[in-house]
Amino acid sequence: MSRRRPAAAGVRQQPLRVLVIGGSSEIGTAIAAELVGEGAREIVLAGRDAAALSRSGATLRTRGAERVETVMLDATRTFGHGAALRSAAEMLGRIDIAILAIGVLGERGGLPDDIPAAIEVLRVNTVGAASLLMETARLMREQGDGTIVVLSSVAAERPRASNAVYCASKAGLDALAQALDDELSPSGVSVMVVRPGFVRTRMTEGLPAAPLATSAEAVARQTVRGLHRRSRTVWAPGTLRWVMLAVRMLPRALLRRLPA
Ligand SMILES: NC(=O)c1ccc[n+]([C@@H]2O[C@H](COP(=O)([O-])OP(=O)(O)OC[C@H]3O[C@@H](n4cnc5c(N)ncnc54)[C@H](OP(=O)(O)O)[C@@H]3O)[C@@H](O)[C@H]2O)c1
Repeated sequence: MSRRRPAAAGVRQQPLRVLVIGGSSEIGTAIAAELVGEGAREIVLAGRDAAALSRSGATLRTRGAERVETVMLDATRTFGHGAALRSAAEMLGRIDIAILAIGVLGERGGLPDDIPAAIEVLRVNTVGAASLLMETARLMREQGDGTIVVLSSVAAERPRASNAVYCASKAGLDALAQALDDELSPSGVSVMVVRPGFVRTRMTEGLPAAPLATSAEAVARQTVRGLHRRSRTVWAPGTLRWVMLAVRMLPRALLRRLPA
């Protein structure tokens, strides 16, 4: 269920200053593009691949962004996160909205064949993303407000054998995001959790589309609507909220028999 916040940062500051952590992400770029339509003019894209960041930057400029800068960081190199994010904040002057869009899907299936690769998924999606979330939260608490959009997943809500490690990785991040939102709310900082279902991006390329599959642009529109409403949780598509409400009620023995 979506929880609403009483009065925290949504889409309100003009012009908005936006940081995308995982700046080459298709969903992250689509959300930033949607925010350009809402008045965002200055954007910092943070990530590990300069060429990919530059392509996202070009897309955002064509959508109307006046200034797009890049900051290099790798999710797995947590020791560099604080400095990288601080330099992003200095470039922007302040961060109104940060979008945390880093993630990898990894091998599908229950017990992985390649356990080191599975650990890498956890290092990126949980440990790395948690480090970036906490460092961003600290910066925003210092500035006195701001909103962090965390790309979680419907996978966080109900673990499935078909996607065991990814589900676990997103559940950890999702729990941290919710708890930090509760913790930071009095300081004016909010953490909004976005839980998309299957989104047609390079992450899911070649996979059969799940029911209610959607596009990065649709997730972006839903996310910005959530920012306007100051929602705590956004499902994309919105119907997933009700589907997951029903799924949560199912006993594991029954869920196990449903198609992956
Ligand atoms: N697509 C879906 O169906 C779906 C559904 C639910 C949730 N999500 C979540 O939504 C977010 C965005 O996904 P997307 O669909 O937009 O996929 P995407 O285009 O593949 O984006 C993934 C992002 O993660 C970055 N990344 C991966 N490993 C990294 C590392 N070690 N250090 C720094 N950056 C790293 C990628 O950077 P590079 O360009 O350098 O690889 C890219 O920017 C992810 O958190 C994903 O888990 C996706």
